[in-house]
Amino acid sequence: MDKSSLDPALIEQLKKLQQKYAVMGQDLSSYLDGLLYSDYLTYWDYIHLDTLLSLQNPKTQFPDEKVFILYHQITELYFNLILWEIEQIAEKEGIEEPFFIARLDRIIRYFQLLENSFSVMVEGMEKDQFLKFRMSLLPASGFQSAQYRLIEICCTDMVNLVHVEFRESMMEYSDIEQQVSHLYWRSGATELASGKKTLTLQQFEEKYMKTFMDTGMKYRTKNLRKIYHENFPTSPEVIKRLRELDMLSNVLWPLAHLRSAGRYLHRDPDDIKATGGTNWQKYLPPRFQRIMFYPELWSAQEKEEWGKAAVAKAFS
Ligand code: HEM
Repeated sequence: MDKSSLDPALIEQLKKLQQKYAVMGQDLSSYLDGLLYSDYLTYWDYIHLDTLLSLQNPKTQFPDEKVFILYHQITELYFNLILWEIEQIAEKEGIEEPFFIARLDRIIRYFQLLENSFSVMVEGMEKDQFLKFRMSLLPASGFQSAQYRLIEICCTDMVNLVHVEFRESMMEYSDIEQQVSHLYWRSGATELASGKKTLTLQQFEEKYMKTFMDTGMKYRTKNLRKIYHENFPTSPEVIKRLRELDMLSNVLWPLAHLRSAGRYLHRDPDDIKATGGTNWQKYLPPRFQRIMFYPELWSAQEKEEWGKAAVAKAFS
């Protein structure tokens, strides 16, 4: 073939491109000019590495604060991946079982990674440093993770997130606003001494309550529990995965998290100051919260033993 002539396969590609652009009333030639002048893509630009690595800004001089910030950011990125999978499930028209299962498997994998990596917090920082730098971060807390709350809202019906005291009495068809007003975590973050809402909770509600309400309304017909009941109510493979997700999200991750609170805040009663004064020993343990996304998938005994370490292990 003459070196100056164009490969016929290339001409074919150009024709297809021309058609593609013509459909939108665009001139291919101008776009080819753009291609001529643009730079090659690099890894660091694509990943926005410089921006990513500019987002860790410790408030103190303690080196372990960087571990603390980075691990929270890593967790939020995984939360974002989980929400991304949930959104794809919720938006899928005519959803079929293999699609649902593949996405549930991804969500489960992300939660497993989060559970297994919590040792970065539990064992990966010096306690003395933690207790000092934590005081500079008040009243901020992981409690204010909006993505964590959004995952909960998208995984189940709002009634299952109501504080355990009121849950039984609130039927599934009760007003969503009423359910939102009794969300378990809203009564969890109260001051030890006065029983009043902590500043941590007040600020969180101010910033995000509208988002949570809107998401609750949007997902009341397409949260994971609804999708399961409407499409695959008897599928053993789906049920197996929903149980796994429930256990990871509401027992195993919370227990891994609780271990870090236990390690850093347990012994000295003064340490409780570092949490802004919440009664976290009474609030955080899954056996007290009793949050289950899919209560209908657990036996009476399994529910009774919810959050006990032995049960958690048996299902891990
Ligand atoms: C040394 C590490 C950590 C300690 C000591 C700790 C401690 C606590 C405490 C005491 C609470 C109760 C609320 C409060 O008093 O602020 C809490 C809540 C929470 N933290 Fe952490 N935390 C740690 C790491 C993390 C990480 C890495 C995340 C990931 C985003 C996280 C996410 C959460 C969430 C979502 C809640 C609310 C849980 C619920 O409402 O059931 N925490 N944490």
